[in-house]
Amino acid sequence: AMTQELDLKRYIRHVPDFPKPGILFYDISTLLRNADAWQVATGRLARAIAPWQPDLLAGIESRGFLTAAPIATRLGCGFTMLRKPGKLPGETVTLTYDLEYGSDSLAIQADAVKPGQRVVVLDDLLATGGTLAASVQLLRKVGAEVVGASVLIELENLGGRRKIDVPLHTLISYE
Ligand code: PRP
Ligand code: MG
Repeated sequence: AMTQELDLKRYIRHVPDFPKPGILFYDISTLLRNADAWQVATGRLARAIAPWQPDLLAGIESRGFLTAAPIATRLGCGFTMLRKPGKLPGETVTLTYDLEYGSDSLAIQADAVKPGQRVVVLDDLLATGGTLAASVQLLRKVGAEVVGASVLIELENLGGRRKIDVPLHTLISYE
């Protein structure tokens, strides 16, 4: 019963003016610190993702690792990392994407995904959607069938969801 009722928003701390003036930062540190709440959060994510029947979960550096790894363990599937360039050994594939100001890049090991493997990509937060959309593209570049995406927190007003062309599940939403 406790699991069904628990309001996870109570565990997300709002930090005004971080990392810059005018930005309201949704801090998951306070959720991670609470063993029961984190157990509930990862359980709900796992239940939402299971029907997509993934072979592999992909986590986006760095906070996406925190959500993807425990869910992979729960679902009994593998886990792979999408990292900032220069961090992964061996042959890698990189994708550069545009930000509001400038650009950013993500990399994956070239052999991370077997052709046609069903992959679900995870992150902590969807804001503009640039990071998650780039991650979907990068996974396709290495042969993945991206069957879904999931985030802990969606900031609905930024419209990031429109950039995501796979089924998208979010646990907590803010206007
Ligand atoms: C944050 C967040 C998402 C991304 C969302 O990551 O964790 O990955 O931004 O933004 P978008 O939807 O506008 O692309 P950040 O770059 O702060 O790095 P971190 O996860 O390593 O802390
Ligand atoms: Mg991030």
